[in-house]
Amino acid sequence: MREMKEITRDDYLNFLKEKNVVKIEDVEIKLQKNWVIKSYSPKNYHPERSTVWSFPNRGEWATHRGNYRGNWSPYISRNLILRYTKKGDWILDQMMGSGTTLVEAKLLERNAIGVDINLDAVMVARDRLNFSYVPLSEYNGPIIKTYWGDARNLDKIEDNSIDLIATHPPYASIISYTKNKKQSDDLSQLPLEEYLTEMKKVAEESFRVLKPGKVCSILIGDTRKHKHYVPIAFRVMQAFLDAGFVLKEDIIKLQWNMKSTREKWHAKEYDFYLIAHEHIFIFRKSESEKDYKKFELSSRWWNENIGK
Ligand SMILES: C[S@@+](CC[C@H](N)C(=O)[O-])C[C@H]1O[C@@H](n2cnc3c(N)ncnc32)[C@H](O)[C@@H]1O
Repeated sequence: MREMKEITRDDYLNFLKEKNVVKIEDVEIKLQKNWVIKSYSPKNYHPERSTVWSFPNRGEWATHRGNYRGNWSPYISRNLILRYTKKGDWILDQMMGSGTTLVEAKLLERNAIGVDINLDAVMVARDRLNFSYVPLSEYNGPIIKTYWGDARNLDKIEDNSIDLIATHPPYASIISYTKNKKQSDDLSQLPLEEYLTEMKKVAEESFRVLKPGKVCSILIGDTRKHKHYVPIAFRVMQAFLDAGFVLKEDIIKLQWNMKSTREKWHAKEYDFYLIAHEHIFIFRKSESEKDYKKFELSSRWWNENIGK
């Protein structure tokens, strides 16, 4: 499996000498280099309070542009970062795509590590990070590192070193990120059962690098096959539980922009509902066996009473 290779700002500037447009699947993304930034934060931001989140306007402050296939709203990363970290903490997005989480980390003065299997995606993320921002606080500014690498092998990240994982994996065979290159290490290429096996490795690496007591959050959705529901999200959730996490929250995120839809929206004549939600699972790494056992007990209770 690929080892992590750091991609610095200088690597990005050298890349720009060769080309200033990258293609992610069928979408061309121009690398801006010189950003004109109108605002560094969302207007009227209110932290989410319930387990249903909905962002009809996905958010275009700073360098967020929403044109990377399958990118998540910066409101999601902002909510997670503000709830679960403080200034100077370390955040990881090991499937960073266009770097939404890292841009929010920079704006909110958190250190961050981003990884993606697609070098072009890393260049998009570096481009989105290529702005200067002088925060009002005394804090000396965050360290933001980007890597070309594989979420299943975070070899440059130490055990128990990360304060928050906030990531948005691809869903099995739904949006492909590197269709033209046929990269086998791109999880978006895999059929469901293989995808789930590989996501278990992502879960285990996440568990290894996260500090005890801290949380790992993932956004994941489902699909439909032969007019029936395929619960990808719950299967992925189980992979994270099997890796040792306990579940803290299951947040329903409503979907507004169905451009990258997982099923055709002209399907009103069929006898099924159009999927318009995803799950944000918040997992916690227990601090002790005693702490973990509380949850293990409840799952045993479930197996003995409900699941037989
Ligand atoms: C849903 S996108 C993430 C979008 C991101 N949250 C954003 O806002 O732009 C999923 C990303 O996972 C990456 N990916 C797929 N397989 C991977 C792997 N094995 N390791 C790391 N990244 C991977 C894809 O290249 C893609 O950029």
